[in-house]
Amino acid sequence: MCGIVGYIGNNAVEEVLLSGLKSLEYRGYDSAGIALNDNGQIDVYRAKGKLDNLSRVLNAQDFSHKHISQGIGHIRWATHGGATVENAHPHKSNDGKLVLVHNGIIENYKELREELKREGFHFFSQTDTETAVHLIDREYKVLRSLEAAVISAVSKLRGAFAFCIMHHDEPDKIIAVRKNAPLIVGLGNNENFIASDIPAIIGKAQKIVYLDDNELAIVRKDNVTVKDFNGRLINKNPEALNFAAEDISKRGYKHYMLKEINEQPDIIRNVLARRMKDAGSPVATDGLDAGQLFAGVEKIEIIACGTSLHAAMVARHVFEELTGIAVTVEAASEYIYKRVLTDEKTLCIGISQSGETADTITAVKLAKEKGAKILTVTNRIDSSIVRYADGVLPLEAGIEVSVAATKSYTAQLVSLYLLAIAVAEVRHSAAPEVLSGLKQELLELPAKMEQVLGATETIKRCAEKYCGNKSFIYIARGINLASAYEGALKLKEISYINAGGYAAGELKHGPIALLDENMPVLAVLVPGSRTYDKMISNCEEAKARHARLIAVTTEADNAHEGLFDEQIKVPAVSEILSPVLLNIPLQLLAYYTAEALGREVDQPRNLAKSVTVE
Ligand code: AGP
Repeated sequence: MCGIVGYIGNNAVEEVLLSGLKSLEYRGYDSAGIALNDNGQIDVYRAKGKLDNLSRVLNAQDFSHKHISQGIGHIRWATHGGATVENAHPHKSNDGKLVLVHNGIIENYKELREELKREGFHFFSQTDTETAVHLIDREYKVLRSLEAAVISAVSKLRGAFAFCIMHHDEPDKIIAVRKNAPLIVGLGNNENFIASDIPAIIGKAQKIVYLDDNELAIVRKDNVTVKDFNGRLINKNPEALNFAAEDISKRGYKHYMLKEINEQPDIIRNVLARRMKDAGSPVATDGLDAGQLFAGVEKIEIIACGTSLHAAMVARHVFEELTGIAVTVEAASEYIYKRVLTDEKTLCIGISQSGETADTITAVKLAKEKGAKILTVTNRIDSSIVRYADGVLPLEAGIEVSVAATKSYTAQLVSLYLLAIAVAEVRHSAAPEVLSGLKQELLELPAKMEQVLGATETIKRCAEKYCGNKSFIYIARGINLASAYEGALKLKEISYINAGGYAAGELKHGPIALLDENMPVLAVLVPGSRTYDKMISNCEEAKARHARLIAVTTEADNAHEGLFDEQIKVPAVSEILSPVLLNIPLQLLAYYTAEALGREVDQPRNLAKSVTVE
C-alpha cells in the first residue's frame, strides 16, 4: 500500500504535501517524492528510503521566489520494481508536462507498456505506474483536455488505482481518480486537499468528500467537481471531518504502538458503554439486527488476514460455544483459491481493521457471489470492504497508526464477544446466567487491563533478557492458540526475531526437535481451564529439552514454581475471555523487545499498515 496526497491553494505547497506524507508514513516508507507546479514549470523531487531523506532534498531548495500553487506527493511500499529513486513516484510523461502519483496495482500494465513502447514512449522505471502516465499522455495529445484524457485512459486500465494527476498546461486543477483504492478530498477555505487517508488532512481541511470507486474529482482551489468514469456529474455531500490533530498525536508516548496499547482500556470502556448498559441488559449491536442477520444461518465463515485472522480464531470458539453454529476460519488468501462451499445459509464475517486489505476484500466479494450474507468488522466504516456488507460492526477504536495492530485487535475481540452474546440472546442458545456472567466479566475487563498496563516491570525484564535470542516458540491450547499465534506475530513483525506459534499438543509431533537451551518457549495458559494440565505436561516436555520457559498466565502458579524461568501474570479471568487480557503482555513483550533491539517500532521493515495488493 502507498500513500498519495495532493494540494491546491495558497499555502506553502511543499510543506503541506510533506506533512501529509508524514501522516501517511504507516502506509509505506520505501521511497517518497513530490511534484510542484511552479506557474507551469513542473518540478519533481524524489528520494529513496524514509521520508526524512526527501525532506533533506527539499530543504536544500529555495522555494521563496517560486509561485507554486499546486502539487502532488507519494510515499511508497514497493510492489513492482525495487525501492529506488527511479521507481519512486511521481512519474512524468516523456515531455515532462504530465505528472502522476499512484496507489494500487495496474494488472494489465505489461501489455500496455509494450503497446506504448511500440508507439515510441520511453520508460525509465520498472513500475506499473509509469504505464498510466504515458497512457494518459497519449490520450492528452489527442484530446487536449486532462479530464477527457483521464476518462479515456482509465477505461483501458485494469486493477486498482488511486491517482493524483497534474498537467503543465492546466495549472488550475489536480485530477483525483479512485478505483479499488481509497481516496478522499478535503475541502478548505480557498484551498483543497487530496489524500489516501484521513490523517493527511486532519487539522487542515474543514470537510471531507469520500470518492467512490470509478469516480474522479476535478479539484480546483475554489471548487471540486466529481464525475463518474463516463464523465457524468455526481452530486456529493461533503461531510464533517470528525477527527482532531489529537487523534493522530503520540500523546507523549515514544511510539504510536505504545500509545495504542495503553489506549485499550478506554476504548473497551467506550465499546461496552455503547453496546451494554449493564450485565442485566441485552447487548445492543449498533443498528445491526443480529436476529435478522443470523436468521436461517447454518454456518459461519470468518475470513481475514494477519492479526485479524487471529481475532477470527478467538471468535470461532466464542460463537461455537455460545450459539452452537458451526464456524470455519480461513485466511483470505487461501479462501480465494479453494473450492468454496459457501451458500445462502452461510454468514461470512470479513474482519479487517483497515477495510482495505485486498485479499480479504476479494474473499468477501467471492463469498457474496456464492450467496452468503456479509458482515464486515472494521475500524474504518469509510473503507472499501464496507461496500460489500449486509451489515457492519464498527470497531470505533480510533485511528490506528502503528503498523502493528494492537488496540484494533482487542476491539475486534470484544466486539465479536458482544455480537456472539447478542446472537445467543436472540437464539436462546446459551443459559441466561452464563450470558449475564460473561457480560459482568466484560464490564470488569478495562480495570483488569489497566492493572496489566500498570505492572510492566517483569515484561520489560523478560524483553531485555531474551531479546538476544534468534528464535522463540509460543505454545497454547484452545481459545488461546490464537493468542500464541498473535503474540508470535507481534514479536516477528516489530523485532524481526523468528517466532512461531504452535498448538502445544503439536509440539511433540515435530517442533520439539527445535528445543534446546537457545530456544525460549513462551506458554500461554489458564490455571483451572480444561487444557491446563496438558499445558503443564507440554511445558515439562520442553523443560526436559533444556528450553527456558516463560509463562503468560492468568495468575502465578505456585504449584509449578520451579518449572518456569519467568511468570508474567494477569488478573484472574474466565478462559473464554482470557485472550483479551493475556494478549496485552504479549503486545508489550514484543514492544519492549523491539525497543531493546532499536527497531523502527511503528514502521517495521518491509511492512505496511494495510496490504492493498494481493
Ligand atoms: C498486524 O499487526 C499486521 N499489521 C497485519 O498482520 C494485519 O493484521 C493484516 O495485514 C490485516 O490487516 P487488516 O486487519 O487491516 O485487514
